[in-house]
Amino acid sequence: MNINFIKLSRPKKGVIVCAYLEGGQLSPTAYTIDNETNGLISAAISCSQFVGKAQQTLTVFTPSNRVLLIGIGKPSQINLAFAEKFGGIIYETLANSAEEEATIMMELDDFKSVEIAAHLALGALLRSYRFDYYKTKITKEEKPSLVNLFISVEKYSYAKKVYESEEAVAEGVFFTRDLVSEPANILFPSEFAKRVDLMTSLGLQIDILEEKEIARLGMSAMLAVGQGSEHESKLVTMRWEGADKNQKSIAFIGKGVCFDTGGISLKPSTGMEEMKFDMGGAGVVCGLMRALAKRKAKANVIGVIGLVENMPDGRAQRPGDIVRSMSGQTIEIINTDAEGRLILADLLWYTQDQYKPEFMIDIATLTGSIVVALGEETCGYFANNDAIARELQAAANAVDEAIWRMPMGEVYNKQMDSDIADMKNAGSRWAGAITAACFLERFVNDLPWIHMDIAGVTWLRKNLPTAPKGASGFGVRALNRLVFNHCEKKYEKNNLS
Ligand code: BES
Ligand code: MN
Ligand code: ZN
Repeated sequence: MNINFIKLSRPKKGVIVCAYLEGGQLSPTAYTIDNETNGLISAAISCSQFVGKAQQTLTVFTPSNRVLLIGIGKPSQINLAFAEKFGGIIYETLANSAEEEATIMMELDDFKSVEIAAHLALGALLRSYRFDYYKTKITKEEKPSLVNLFISVEKYSYAKKVYESEEAVAEGVFFTRDLVSEPANILFPSEFAKRVDLMTSLGLQIDILEEKEIARLGMSAMLAVGQGSEHESKLVTMRWEGADKNQKSIAFIGKGVCFDTGGISLKPSTGMEEMKFDMGGAGVVCGLMRALAKRKAKANVIGVIGLVENMPDGRAQRPGDIVRSMSGQTIEIINTDAEGRLILADLLWYTQDQYKPEFMIDIATLTGSIVVALGEETCGYFANNDAIARELQAAANAVDEAIWRMPMGEVYNKQMDSDIADMKNAGSRWAGAITAACFLERFVNDLPWIHMDIAGVTWLRKNLPTAPKGASGFGVRALNRLVFNHCEKKYEKNNLS
């Protein structure tokens, strides 16, 4: 779908989309059309339940155009997140309407700022995502008819400028969704690495380490996870240097388990197919790096992902095994299904050792326990530093990605002690997301660090206004905003919210 910003004027063809405030009056264009059609629009409103509540829609067919009214609620409700939802709903209402063109009229006082216009377009774009490469029989009706979406707004060239940097972020979100949607027979570690490598053309510096080099670095905890797989494990680093050399980097680390069977501690078969999304953290890091490169972020950022497949096999690691991590600390394997933390343990150590970042954030589909705690709508995060936690929370709030800080502490941490090694990789049934975070913290030295557990939010079982069901891309926008706020805000003259 093409999105264009055009000067404010009534279009001749296609759908005309008009905003409608709750209990309010018709927008100028809707009012004109209503007059021309002997009150078709007001008649439709009065014999329907449409009152303009946020996200309510009403379609009216006039002899010349289809008119779509979208409720935007009360003036105080309208913010950028709302605008994105309206955009998504408009897209979804019209995508398969047989119409090829639609124009959104940004003419109501509460609904004509450039930011609102840009985010409306962003919402429509985010909702238009499709992953249909494997569908060989798409009918004409299933294929979206809508090809051109116009946003008709007073300051259209400025709105377009605002939109363009958001579009770069959406491209990152789409990259994440693509990676997460791919099945594990297609997207195994080396194929994943290959797709990341293509981003060199965007100005990213990409390094791919093979198992031999990973072993030389001493990362036996990470390698133990992939031991039972036919696919070689890979460690991929992505570097974006958009700021002065003397400015410290910030680092993002992703769990990239291309498929998690559980290993010898095999998972039950029901729902196991979902474990293709166990590389979601790595997917977010890649989407973030793509977004930063696309919008030429003035920041120095490092992305590190560990790509492995967790399989049961004659060579697979066993419960009871003891592995030595890169940090030198030893880990007793209680459960081979607690594999993500083994990868992250070595990646965290490697990242701080190699790059000495200002702070680091890991992102992982780490535990079922976080889904028990927060459900599928909120991401749980853990931090060893309040200031950076506040920065992440503010960034996520700004882009309407729901995250919630979880507790840590010595009472939880000591549950990970082992009788025979420095620690074990799995504790009791209780507080599993917290004890996992405590395990990870043992691999962080005096450095602000955050762990985000995205197990619940990576895959959507239902459509959301700004995302079709399937891979959500959750996290790309919050982390992109964090990078912006932390590194780039100082360069911005007019600070967009
Ligand atoms: N990849 C899973 C966590 C997961 C579960 C992600 C559900 C998405 C949805 C992880 O590797 C895992 O298996 N964790 C175990 C740890 C346990 C064995 C200590 C879990 O949470 O049950
Ligand atoms: Mn597992
Ligand atoms: Zn896993």
